[in-house]
Amino acid sequence: MRVAILGVGTVGEQVAKILIQNQKLITARSGKEITPVIGVVKNLNKKRDIGIPLTDDMDAVLKRDDIDVYVELMGGVDYPYRIISEILKRKKAVVTANKALLAYHRYELQNIAQDTPFGFEASVAGGIPIIKTLREGLSANHISSVKGIMNGTSNYILTSMMQGGASFERALKSAQELGYAEADPTFDVGGFDAAHKLLILSSIAYGVYGKPEDILIEGIESITKEDIFFAQDFEYIIKLLAIAKKVDDKVELRVHPALVAKDKMIAKVDGVMNGISVVGDAVGETMFYGPGAGGSATASAVISDLIDIARDVKSPMFGYKIPLELTPLELLAQDEIRTKYYFRLTVDDKMGVLAKITNIMSENNLSIDSFLQKPKLKGDENGVTLFFTTHTSLELDVKRVIEILTKQEFVKEKPFMIRIEG
Ligand SMILES: NC(=O)c1ccc[n+]([C@@H]2O[C@H](COP(=O)([O-])OP(=O)(O)OC[C@H]3O[C@@H](n4cnc5c(N)ncnc54)[C@H](OP(=O)(O)O)[C@@H]3O)[C@@H](O)[C@H]2O)c1
Repeated sequence: MRVAILGVGTVGEQVAKILIQNQKLITARSGKEITPVIGVVKNLNKKRDIGIPLTDDMDAVLKRDDIDVYVELMGGVDYPYRIISEILKRKKAVVTANKALLAYHRYELQNIAQDTPFGFEASVAGGIPIIKTLREGLSANHISSVKGIMNGTSNYILTSMMQGGASFERALKSAQELGYAEADPTFDVGGFDAAHKLLILSSIAYGVYGKPEDILIEGIESITKEDIFFAQDFEYIIKLLAIAKKVDDKVELRVHPALVAKDKMIAKVDGVMNGISVVGDAVGETMFYGPGAGGSATASAVISDLIDIARDVKSPMFGYKIPLELTPLELLAQDEIRTKYYFRLTVDDKMGVLAKITNIMSENNLSIDSFLQKPKLKGDENGVTLFFTTHTSLELDVKRVIEILTKQEFVKEKPFMIRIEG
């Protein structure tokens, strides 16, 4: 089986290397030799040592008749969408690790692909085989939730803040120095990368449609040391969670920082690692842990798709031979989310302020579960910081309370909220 690698960077280079290094084993497992015959790059002058011929002539490679599978590892959305559509229309198999592309165009690509193999195991959680797990291993189950840490960069930053006492800025700088974060980290710390992965998984778990702009996405940029201290005092860990949950006949999809009880397995997933919990009605809770990124771990997933294609193993792209329901499940409106909440409020240190806050909360259906006021530090001129957690509440009520509190004279900074998950 002859393979062209479109994009020979961090992942593409490793795909070529592992295909060559593990050739005997891969041939034995797939029943065919899988040979990387050409790689396409943008800049031919870059120094690389990968042992396959390279070109910058994409059109020439797309026109070749001797390629059986194209592996897209360039990144981006519009350009790879155009290229992959062209390849699939010619009935040639495709493998990609491109979650951004799939977050926007997975159903169009499914329509174009029809029975032509299209592998995307590497697009979610790098080395963790979560796509195959959901699509094959857990296919007997109604999935009640898929919840996890799907972005290693944010998890590294939060772990550094929790364990090393670093500020967000310092933890981000260290992530950048270690090569875990891009120069522009928005995509990772803003929650968008995790949202792309969540959308892909939710297509398999629930058959739901949805694009990034349809779901709640919040990042970790506003988490402070105070939030970390509060979390620790109350036996919580802060994690950036991607959550897909079935709520009656709707599906809730959201990505945001969350307080997670310290004893939960997901709370123990530290550093750049990823961890995903899937709950099914027959199997109960299952948990998957491993490297969510990195050239070699991601290449491992890319090659597993190539081996499936060589073996002629064909699974429907999102796991459904026929549509799941006549009417697809709908996404739950963001205002209808129900969970527990944590609030951080900086207010004037005056008599009566606390009573006013609790009044506003109770008038808007928020019931307080716990409250903490840290002793005021010397030189702390900007008021006093209060921390609350609530019982299960409606997102719409929480938004209203934040809006009302923001307008109060005694409130010194916009109130900050984190959702609590278990
Ligand atoms: N890195 C990871 O850990 C990881 C994990 C999971 C998924 N992914 C996904 O895997 C894909 C590749 O990521 P990566 O980290 O390997 O990216 P990368 O290191 O930036 O490599 C991209 C490669 O594509 C080539 N390229 C870009 N635009 C091109 C164009 N228009 N024509 C021809 N070649 C082009 C680049 O050429 P030059 O080398 O000449 O610049 C480079 O070889 C992305 O979709 C990413 O989201 C990555």
